[in-house]
Amino acid sequence: MSNNDRGVTIWLTGLSGAGKSTITEHLVPMLKARGKKVEVLDGDVVRTNLSKGLGFSKEDRDTNIRRIGFVCNLLTRNGVVAIAAAISPYKAVRQEVREMIGDFVEVYVKASLETCIQRDVKGLYKKALAGEIKQFTGVSDPYEPPENPEVICDTERETPQESAAKIVAYLKKAGYLETNAGTEENFIETEKTENVYLEQELP
Ligand SMILES: Nc1ncnc2c1ncn2[C@@H]1O[C@H](COP(=O)(O)OP(=O)(O)OP(=O)(O)O)[C@@H](O)[C@H]1O
Ligand SMILES: [Mg+2]
Repeated sequence: MSNNDRGVTIWLTGLSGAGKSTITEHLVPMLKARGKKVEVLDGDVVRTNLSKGLGFSKEDRDTNIRRIGFVCNLLTRNGVVAIAAAISPYKAVRQEVREMIGDFVEVYVKASLETCIQRDVKGLYKKALAGEIKQFTGVSDPYEPPENPEVICDTERETPQESAAKIVAYLKKAGYLETNAGTEENFIETEKTENVYLEQELP
């Protein structure tokens, strides 16, 4: 099987407002341009259909993640790049879906709580801090950051494009994408992204 036929799950985890959906928007066209089939399971969308009716208790959050993981597994074994973009605050259930799927790239979308509060993309932090929303991750519910993610996207220091490029560089290195991209434009981009990736590897 050529690298381009390999499926993989890219699992983005991070606080609300850290940048999971934004990075996904940039990542999808980059992967499609490389001939991959791509499917996105975004937390917000999933909660309106696949996980409709689930709440935010630990049990319901874990059920939500298991469902997303189940679909990602089906896609991955059929050669698709499945991108999960959900907060997924609990380490243990992330580990569980990692083990089930195997071809699994965990991306820590990293931004401090202060930054996410400042961004307050959806206005939810304001409500959570005012006590109007219970069990809000980072404010009144836990977030357990990954210990050994394959990629860290520090969205306080990178642009969304750089963050997405870092993931692409990792996928190439791990053998999920062809490296001989061909055109001059791609060559320049490859060089750039690999530099970004090397920087990330430094201690
Ligand atoms: N490097 C970056 N990557 C992603 N987003 C960034 C970056 N730098 C700044 N941002 C900004 O941060 C915000 C991230 O919001 P986004 O909706 O993507 O978060 P999210 O992680 O999907 O949150 P939620 O869990 O609530 O869906 C956007 O306003 C985006 O423009
Ligand atoms: Mg989102």
